Amino acid sequence: MENFNYHNPVHVLFGKGTIAGIGKVIPRGFKVMLTYGGGSIKQNGVHEQVTRALRDHEVVEFGGIEPNPCLETLTLAVERARRENIGFLLAVGGGSVIDGTKYIAAASCFRGADPWDIVAKGARVDAALPLAAVLTLPATGSEMNCNSVITRRATREKLSFSSRHVFPRFSVLDPETTYSLPRHQVANGVIDAFVHVMEQYYTSRHGDEIQDRFSEGILKTLVELGPRLVDEEPEYQSRATFTWAATVALNGLIGCGVPQDWATHHIGHELTAFHGLDHGVTLAIVLPGVMQVTAGSRRGKLLQYAERVWGIDPARPDAAGLAIERTERFFQRLGVKTRLSDHGIGAETIDRVVHRFRERGVYALGGLDDVNVDNARETLATRL
Ligand code: NZQ
Ligand code: ZN
Repeated sequence: MENFNYHNPVHVLFGKGTIAGIGKVIPRGFKVMLTYGGGSIKQNGVHEQVTRALRDHEVVEFGGIEPNPCLETLTLAVERARRENIGFLLAVGGGSVIDGTKYIAAASCFRGADPWDIVAKGARVDAALPLAAVLTLPATGSEMNCNSVITRRATREKLSFSSRHVFPRFSVLDPETTYSLPRHQVANGVIDAFVHVMEQYYTSRHGDEIQDRFSEGILKTLVELGPRLVDEEPEYQSRATFTWAATVALNGLIGCGVPQDWATHHIGHELTAFHGLDHGVTLAIVLPGVMQVTAGSRRGKLLQYAERVWGIDPARPDAAGLAIERTERFFQRLGVKTRLSDHGIGAETIDRVVHRFRERGVYALGGLDDVNVDNARETLATRL
């Protein structure tokens, strides 16, 4: 298994009909485990396309990976992968299936007592089963990055790990697989990609114009495209643009060499852990709060964002506030409710979230220290 030799340098197979080619890039002689979620791939024909492409491979299936993939389910897959001597994992689905499969890949090769230590204690990942993905939901970028976010239902923890060993050997991005997405999942995907860019862009004014312009290009594309994606019938070119925007939003390109934050994600993960809210929804709630509390410390960048993404004159005295308002209104335009109270969440959750960060002994919640345990309460209070 560890000697798996990947001959094809292609990382992304992009476009209509590309699923048909996966049989050629997964070597024979390995037992493949096809992992998937709650069954959408059986309704939209993706499962059929994948199994047809793999007709000459030995394939076993593991379904039932839930949104916000759970350790409890994934542990069953790890046991099965070990028992059946699986040599290759193929994740078919959204970020949850891909992230869950990354955990299965790492945990199957883990030599310590408890693979959860990879996530909870940052235990080193020295090896993983090779994996690839057929993406059906543009959002997380998991198809082209080393990250995985796992939930432990029993303790209501949602935590992440990252390892180069779980970087997909290749990913198939066929925009047509997204046609069956419900409207709210499209909205979640647009918001997730948007906030991934913001976490790597809305920081300091570092002067790396290429990185900034890449980010602004993705943000503007999402602003322009988002409403059409949720309002109109699926159409190839806009789905292709959406798919690629979400991938490049978190495949390492725009974050290379620049400061990053991720406070919005860390706070958002706690809202999912406590209340089960969709990942994208938590980000739409939290980002305007983070922007509010950092409007002073990141003023220069906020005004740049206002001008370049929203066309607001930075000389206007209300430019910063207007940019935050436009951002929130954009999320609402996609049909997402952006207040905690819209989701029946009150001040007690804010207490629990802040308590959790204190327990973990962290100060800065992201890469910059202007969103921290001391102002986390204020950040969330602006979102009630
Ligand atoms: O489970 P199935 O039946 O497949 O249905 C899924 C699920 O109910 C459905 N779906 C996916 N593709 C579909 C479809 N329904 C119809 N047609 C299709 N083509 O959509 C629902 C949500 O899927 P999920 O995979 O949970 O969504 P998403 O891609 O937004 O992933 C969210 C997870 O990724 C993590 C999040 O925290 C969350 O756990 N993230 C992973 C990241 C990473 N690996 O880099 C970064 C992100 O910031 C994020 O944290
Ligand atoms: Zn995200």
